[in-house]
Amino acid sequence: LSYFEPFGVPFDVALAELGSAFESLPQATADALGEDGVEALQAVAQRMGDNYPYHHPLYIGQMLKPPHPVARQAYALAQYINPNNHALDGGRASSRMEKEAVAQIAVMIGWDTHLGHLCGGGTMANFEALWVGREEFASRAEGGHEAGAVVASAAAHYTHQRLSAVLGVPFAQVPLDSAGGMDVTALRSLLDQQAVATVVATLGSTAMGAVDPLPQLLALREEYGFRLHVDGAYGGYFGLSAKLAPAVRDAYECVSQADSFVVDPHKHGLQPYGCGCVIFRDPAVGRHYQHDSPYTYFSSDELHLGEISLECSRAGAAAVALWATQRALPLVPGGDFASGLDHCLLAARRLHTHLSRHATLVPLQEPALDIVVWAVRGPSATVSSALAQEIFEEAARLDLHLAVVSMPQTLCVEADPVGEWDAPVLVCLRACAMKPQHLAWLNEVTDRLDRAVDAALARHYSERPPS
Ligand SMILES: Cc1ncc(COP(=O)(O)O)c(C=O)c1O
Repeated sequence: LSYFEPFGVPFDVALAELGSAFESLPQATADALGEDGVEALQAVAQRMGDNYPYHHPLYIGQMLKPPHPVARQAYALAQYINPNNHALDGGRASSRMEKEAVAQIAVMIGWDTHLGHLCGGGTMANFEALWVGREEFASRAEGGHEAGAVVASAAAHYTHQRLSAVLGVPFAQVPLDSAGGMDVTALRSLLDQQAVATVVATLGSTAMGAVDPLPQLLALREEYGFRLHVDGAYGGYFGLSAKLAPAVRDAYECVSQADSFVVDPHKHGLQPYGCGCVIFRDPAVGRHYQHDSPYTYFSSDELHLGEISLECSRAGAAAVALWATQRALPLVPGGDFASGLDHCLLAARRLHTHLSRHATLVPLQEPALDIVVWAVRGPSATVSSALAQEIFEEAARLDLHLAVVSMPQTLCVEADPVGEWDAPVLVCLRACAMKPQHLAWLNEVTDRLDRAVDAALARHYSERPPS
């Protein structure tokens, strides 16, 4: 099927079924699309054509993955109700579906009991985990005047530093080891100097998909007593894969011992944007959310999701889409969803192998997940960076869409791509092989990449002949 198929008969049948639930009501009218509406839709189609082809396998740049058809159609179906998952009053069925979908994610990481919910995305999900970390620290601290810090690696998403500022708690950054994970020795010396509430372990760093060493972080938690929060916004699902390297697998095996966990269904979970998820191992942390509301929570004594989340109104449709996707593609090892992740890992490894044999390009690390970062060989960091930018542009002319990323010198040492370090960072190329189809398309990807390299080198050196 082409990506731009209309929803078709199965959707119409499901819609009729949904409508029949309200058949006993007297007929009421709804707004028609109208001529202006038709014109507006046409205008939307024209405006939205001005985008990179995110849905296509030749788009292998940023973290963008098309939602599964079941997610898109379930979301559209839910729009006929437009539920609000703040309270059961506004979204009875979809709130229950959210609880079921989140419980399945909890089981995926090994938790039979948990407290969790969906939210707008990874930022909001991490915010709640860091906020609970702050509250837990404050309730434990004797005298309680010092706020415990949030600590994350230099490769953690920048959101953690910003969220710490919003929460009014100190933030400290831990340097990286040579694989791009958190340097455990550096973390220990930081823990000796500073009161730490939460250590953030990243499972799949944004720039290169690196995985922090969870077993060692857990050992340090035993000694120092911080909360361990796992930011798996990007990589949280990969524990289902059968293709992880042993050290990476070891990290995933430890996730169940973390205190809180974040995953973004709107990244690898095949969902439309607006779907993050935060889960706590100990349901008792729900006490921090306690509040009275004179407006809501009338319809039932059952838990209203607004009672355990910071956001109030939220799209119930996001929960419906996730529930439907997990029903069609259960979160189990060996299932279709897991095998999609396997394909992504294999695609990234194949790209890495191609780059390892390349005369001009050089991969920085073996990919832990499905993100590959590589540099361009050059006499200096400045020339290498300029070439990376030119290859990025040439590739786009060939309909191959990559991303660029600035990498610190420390992460380039092993690959050794440049002669002279005349700049503090190196602009590299980056590919997120997030679509299972990337595996089948990899030869096409590398073929176009090689042509882009040839074109960029020819252009670069014809404009600036080497001295
Ligand atoms: C590891 C990690 N954490 C958090 C975020 C922020 O998530 P969101 O963009 O959904 O708010 C991202 C986004 O790329 C991420 O990669």
